[in-house]
Amino acid sequence: MAFRCGKAGLILTQLGQSLRCSSTAAAAAQPPRMKTFSIYRWNPDKPGDKPKMQNYEVDLNDCGPMVLDALIKIKNEMDPTLTFRRSCREGICGSCAMNIAGANTLACICEIDSKAATKIYPLPHMYVIKDLVPDMTNFYEQYRSIQPWLQRDDLKTMDSTKEYLQSEGDRKKLDGLYECILCACCSTSCPAYWWNGDRYLGPAVLMQAYRWMIDSRDEAFEKRADFLKDKYKLYKCHTIMNCTKTCPKGLNPGYAIAEAKLLVAGLQEKSKPEMKATA
Ligand code: SF4
Ligand code: SF4
Ligand code: FES
Repeated sequence: MAFRCGKAGLILTQLGQSLRCSSTAAAAAQPPRMKTFSIYRWNPDKPGDKPKMQNYEVDLNDCGPMVLDALIKIKNEMDPTLTFRRSCREGICGSCAMNIAGANTLACICEIDSKAATKIYPLPHMYVIKDLVPDMTNFYEQYRSIQPWLQRDDLKTMDSTKEYLQSEGDRKKLDGLYECILCACCSTSCPAYWWNGDRYLGPAVLMQAYRWMIDSRDEAFEKRADFLKDKYKLYKCHTIMNCTKTCPKGLNPGYAIAEAKLLVAGLQEKSKPEMKATA
């Protein structure tokens, strides 16, 4: 691994290379632990190309522990045409979401299992741009549609150097909601979203809609609730709970949707803010 940071970068690069050489040498000394990664491939730039599965054999002695490590190794050492998204490598950016061994998850925090073979597909029921890269356009448009930002009547007149305060209790209500990284693992595991994704907003977006509805600082509750009053946008959720089961961040979008339904139907009211001050 190479780390670049001015002069020190060279030293770190050399250190990385020597670490890599020694780990490769150590791997060579052990009997190989081969595993097959069977990966969905499709290249739109090749006219007439049909989707297919392609197998790659990886020696786990010479590979990091996560599925993303194996994908990077395959791309770097065997097949540079293999295409996938990744960025943070820490389960934070959400870009490496894919279907691994039958479950939607993040490749960077999914440990390679001990089975002889693992199948990897793009997130299900999405248009594919290439190989493991899904088209997220509809997902992001839906996210935009819920207006995921603070809305207040006094925003234009408010001194922009000030903050809207929130009590500890009101802030706590956002726990389990704000941590969502919008990876779309939940939405693309939801049967209701598979069949109605053009009109049903899906669990990831609905959880954020709920997050903004209950924020004590936000004043657009009525508008937000009205937007969701629709046969499809919210009520296509049938509480199957695939979303919660698959979330790689351990969140519970199914519960958030159930709470949102109560608010939108008027069976529950948004509680009054415990604090209204600015500082
Ligand atoms: S709720 Fe979980 S699975 Fe769904 S988008 Fe957020 S982090 Fe991903
Ligand atoms: S509870 Fe079921 S229907 Fe509702 S969003 Fe989750 S997976 Fe989809
Ligand atoms: S690379 Fe960022 S979540 Fe996996």
